[in-house]
Formats: sequence, structure tokens, C-alpha cells
Amino acid sequence: VILTQDELKKIAAYKAVEFVESGMVLGLGTGSTAKHAVDRIGELLRQGKLTNIVGIPTSKKTHEQAVSLGIPLSDLDSYPVVDLAIDGADEVDPFMNLVKGRGGSLLREKMVEGACKKFVVIVDESKLVPHLGGSGLAMPVEVVPYCWKFTAKRLQDLFEDCGCVAKLRTTGDQPFVTDNGNYVIDLYLKKDIGDLKVASDNILRLAGVVEHGMFLDMATTVIVASELGVTIRNK
Ligand code: A5P
Repeated sequence: VILTQDELKKIAAYKAVEFVESGMVLGLGTGSTAKHAVDRIGELLRQGKLTNIVGIPTSKKTHEQAVSLGIPLSDLDSYPVVDLAIDGADEVDPFMNLVKGRGGSLLREKMVEGACKKFVVIVDESKLVPHLGGSGLAMPVEVVPYCWKFTAKRLQDLFEDCGCVAKLRTTGDQPFVTDNGNYVIDLYLKKDIGDLKVASDNILRLAGVVEHGMFLDMATTVIVASELGVTIRNK
């Protein structure tokens, strides 16, 4: 059988939901992979196989999905410690560092997943990369709208040596606006970004930057679904 990418995402998601126990405060991820996990949690609640769950959604979209499934929701103000979060990723390196945010929800994801005791990442094998930022796809940075061109230029200059091109994310001819009312600058890199911690610190030091999509040393488990089966890596 040849499985579609979406079927692989679903397999990884369902595997992750096996880690969910009744009574947990759960970080609910965003994106096409996490969507399957949220659906499954809703289903187990409806069947009475899970009880007493509180979900902390990482985006307005996931909030809506969870509401439609009847999952009780709250936020980090009320639950500053989250037991477990399940979310997808755009890239996963061999050290379980991630790029996230191609769906634009990086800030809330980083807040919720940074508050988790366990963070389970669910991906199909296409997300595995040797180095972050090396897949030719974007490294997202959430910035305040104020003088975004100035911030984009400073980001591009920061990674000049990697052949960086910084582009404003758009939907149609309008800037893409995050759930927090900000813009996203996508960094396209021709070369590996180098030391990730240094890159992260340099980006966060720029005043117009809100957050970036590198999730370093945050994942505690990575579940990878491939044609050959599911592999689980733990920190
Ligand atoms: C949302 O902003 C992202 O961080 C997603 O978690 C990530 O883009 C993975 O999405 P998919 O599961 O749709 O690939």
C-alpha cells in the first residue's frame, strides 16, 4: 500500500494521542498534522475514553476546531503549566530542533509549547532535514507591522553570508496577519544558518522582532510516520 502524506500525518497524530491521559492540560497544536490529533482527542472525549481534559489552543483556528468538537478550553493565564502538547513541524533536525510557523502560528505555539512538561512533535518523514533552514523553504519570523521593511532588511543583513532573502508573507496582495496582529517575514537561506543558538539570539535582539520559528531544545518526543512504520524518538 502506498499511503498519502495526509494518511502518514494521521498515523503520527493518532500515535501521539496515545500519550494523552484523562485529567491532563493539553497544548493543542496547529496545522494539517496537529488537526488530526485534535480530531482524535475530540473523538475520545465524545466516547468517554478520555475525561477531564483542558485544551490550550495554539491558534484561533485550532480554537475554533476544538470548540466545534466540544473540547473544554482555557489559556496559559489560567494554566501556566501544560502537561503535554502535540504539534506538527515544518522541519526536524537530528537533534530534535524544529522549524515551525509556516502556518503562521509560531508565537502562540512557542508560548504554549514552552510551558509544557512534554512536547510531542508529529511529522511524516518529509519533514526530516539534516540542518534547519536547509530545505529551501522559509524560516518564519513574526515582526511588528511598524516599519516592517526596516526589520526585514536588518534580518536579511544578519544572514547575508547565507545568501538570505527576506520576504513579507502575503495572502493575495495583502500582508498575512498573524493571530496577534503582526506580520511574518520569511527568510529564504541558500546556505545552512550555522550555530542555531547564535542565529536565534541575533534575531531576537532586533527590536521589531516578536519571535522566530526555530524551536530549539523544546521537543521531548518526535513521532515520525513513514511507509515503513512509525518511529518514536525521545530526548
Ligand atoms: C503552524 O504555524 C506551524 O508551526 C505548523 O505546526 C507547522 O507548519 C506544521 O504544519 P503541517 O502539519 O500542516 O505541515
